[in-house]
Amino acid sequence: MGTLFCLTLLLSVAPSTPGHVSGRADAAPAPGLRDLAAPLGLRIGAAFNDDPTLLDPSYATTLAREFDMGVSENHMKWQFVHPAPTTYDFKVADAQVGFAEGHGMTYRGHNLAWSRQNPAWLVTGPFTRDERIQQLRDHIAAVVGHYAGRVAQWDVVNEAFDGLADPLHDPWSVSIGFPEYLDIAFTAAHAADPTAKLFYNDYNLQAPNSKFDHLIDLVAGMKARGVPIDGIGFESHLSARSCTAKCTNDTLKNMLRAHALGLEVAITELDVSVQLPATSQKLDQQASVYRSVLEACLLAPNCHTFMMWGFTDKYSWIPSFVHGYGAALPFDEQYQPKPAYAAMAATLSTPPVAPSCAAFPDRATAQKAFDSGVLGAPMLDPDGSGTACENLPAVAAPVAAPATVEPAPTGEKLPAVPAPRAAPVVVAPAFTG
Ligand code: XIL
Repeated sequence: MGTLFCLTLLLSVAPSTPGHVSGRADAAPAPGLRDLAAPLGLRIGAAFNDDPTLLDPSYATTLAREFDMGVSENHMKWQFVHPAPTTYDFKVADAQVGFAEGHGMTYRGHNLAWSRQNPAWLVTGPFTRDERIQQLRDHIAAVVGHYAGRVAQWDVVNEAFDGLADPLHDPWSVSIGFPEYLDIAFTAAHAADPTAKLFYNDYNLQAPNSKFDHLIDLVAGMKARGVPIDGIGFESHLSARSCTAKCTNDTLKNMLRAHALGLEVAITELDVSVQLPATSQKLDQQASVYRSVLEACLLAPNCHTFMMWGFTDKYSWIPSFVHGYGAALPFDEQYQPKPAYAAMAATLSTPPVAPSCAAFPDRATAQKAFDSGVLGAPMLDPDGSGTACENLPAVAAPVAAPATVEPAPTGEKLPAVPAPRAAPVVVAPAFTG
């Protein structure tokens, strides 16, 4: 069955009014996640799987009902979009972007420079440094230019580091040099579409670690060199565990470090793997991870994008890449919502409230709350110094006991009121007749 046929079917089965789908086959309660997220200034989205999945009518219906942002799981990568040196193939990606536009969804582009999923002709070479630079510039001009004004965010460079903190030896860093190739890629993307927001995207960023330290050094250097970078994508391929406020706060700490550099963050590829067989206990743990990542994004002032790497377990990359694991997405294989879906809907309905220094009388009290790890605690220490609410007084001045004023007998003078320390006590003049 050809790609175009599949995409035509996708376009014809999908509802034209998301959130108001009649006669749907699944049982997810309305409103969709997108309706809950929009008032919070959050785009919530999912990766569009490859074309064979689009034959599945429930796929398009659920996608359009629940999400208002999309990204191609594969079809904007070099391997698919630039299969031969002078050939570009936008067929599948064009249809995916068209579907998004037809359903009020914005789109992310993924990605423009990565060590994986490159066509053989690009990897084999050999190419000189100048040729590599030209290849990168030409590719970005063609692909970003093709979608100019239609793709709101690009993952310009994907996974430049390995799992820890070392730059990868991919075609770009080896031939062009690290970090020069990043500067070239971001500059070219900005030239091709000055309206698109440009992200660096990577994994293993959900808690403080040396990889995130290196990444912060990298992006701070880019900013200092005037390279047009807007944000950091947190892929968030995670595994199920029991997450409480600590998970949320760890992620929030990293988000706030990006904020301090004037950068946005986006959750770009969230999925939470479960060791198979999935039990209800494991799915509850999985839900706690989904909830926690969403909480961090809602608490962070610079997170407005929350994307999952698919949405149904029927089509997820995890089982074929992580042996023995799966069930990683918020809908099961029959498009039924799982506990992860309910957890996200509940979090969007009752979003976490960031603690504020204004609520504490002094630094000591704020520090106590911070040290106890209340949900959102890093908001009390945005510079990450370890000291909460540095602008508050160390210990609050004792509050004066409230002044009680006896009603003055008619015709008598009021008793003297002690000078107030906090708010002035206003006493109405006694009626003297
Ligand atoms: C994965 C896709 O989901 C698979 O279908 C493909 O075979 C391999 O790539 N980080 C990324 C994504 O940035 O592009 C990867 O997507 C998952 C890990």
